[in-house]
Amino acid sequence: MAFAAGCGLSNRTSVFRQNVSSQTSISLRPAKAPRQVVSMAGHGKFFVGGNWKCNGSKVMVDTLVAELNAGTIPSDVEVVCAPPSLFLERVNNSIRHPTYAVAAQNCWTGSGGAYTGEITADMLSDMDIPWVILGHSERRQLCGETNEIVAEKAGYAISKNVRVIGCIGETLEERESGALWNILATQMEAYKSTVTDWDKMVIAYEPIWAIGTGVVATPEQAQEVHAFLRKWVSDNLGANVASKLRILYGGSVNADNCADLSGREDIDGFLVGGASLKGESFVQICNAQTAMAK
Ligand code: 13P
Repeated sequence: MAFAAGCGLSNRTSVFRQNVSSQTSISLRPAKAPRQVVSMAGHGKFFVGGNWKCNGSKVMVDTLVAELNAGTIPSDVEVVCAPPSLFLERVNNSIRHPTYAVAAQNCWTGSGGAYTGEITADMLSDMDIPWVILGHSERRQLCGETNEIVAEKAGYAISKNVRVIGCIGETLEERESGALWNILATQMEAYKSTVTDWDKMVIAYEPIWAIGTGVVATPEQAQEVHAFLRKWVSDNLGANVASKLRILYGGSVNADNCADLSGREDIDGFLVGGASLKGESFVQICNAQTAMAK
């Protein structure tokens, strides 16, 4: 595997300890190339998620799946596509496995019943959908999902063996006021209160000001937050969890900016919105590390 060479847990642990020592100042350390990925029990792979949000039709979904199936994805990159729930089965039945896995974009807080309009983690599991995105800022802001609701969903999904892409992120006002560190820590604290198996969790840091705006965080801004998060995880969940947890960046990632971001030590992948709707650009993003190594 091209980027797995020679980086054991202890190396990675010491690297993030160095990084987080400057958590409140922007790291100007140059991108490391090639990136070294911890290879550990199936974890540590660079991870790219495609969040299709509320987009698609039968024709559009079939076209996108055909484009993805025609793409070349490095074997050391884990790729998960999240279509709208109505298309989950269609995509799961047509997308190339195991290159790609499929995720839902939401699920209910617990088991099923009189919850009109909802789907449960039990149903995802039953339909062989291995992942779910939870806590996306659009659901927090548009659907009123609180930290507590998101955490309840995450804990339940993981208890049903559905892996979780847990999103967190701050608004521009929170960043500019300096409140972001508390906001992010509180969002992480909520996940900590319910998640019992962090091997089944990835965290997606998605600054709200970068989502769908074309204003991508600079690699320095993203790395600074990712290092902060890894230190938070180390302090609160232990160094072992911190060294294994994939922390994704999301917000205006595209084929042009992905290589630079992917070179940062604590950026373990991406959660991609708009650029995941075009097969060619999404496949390019999945190859960000390869582009970095050139
Ligand atoms: P964009 O890539 O369109 O900014 O969306 C990011 C996102 O919200 C992924 O979940």
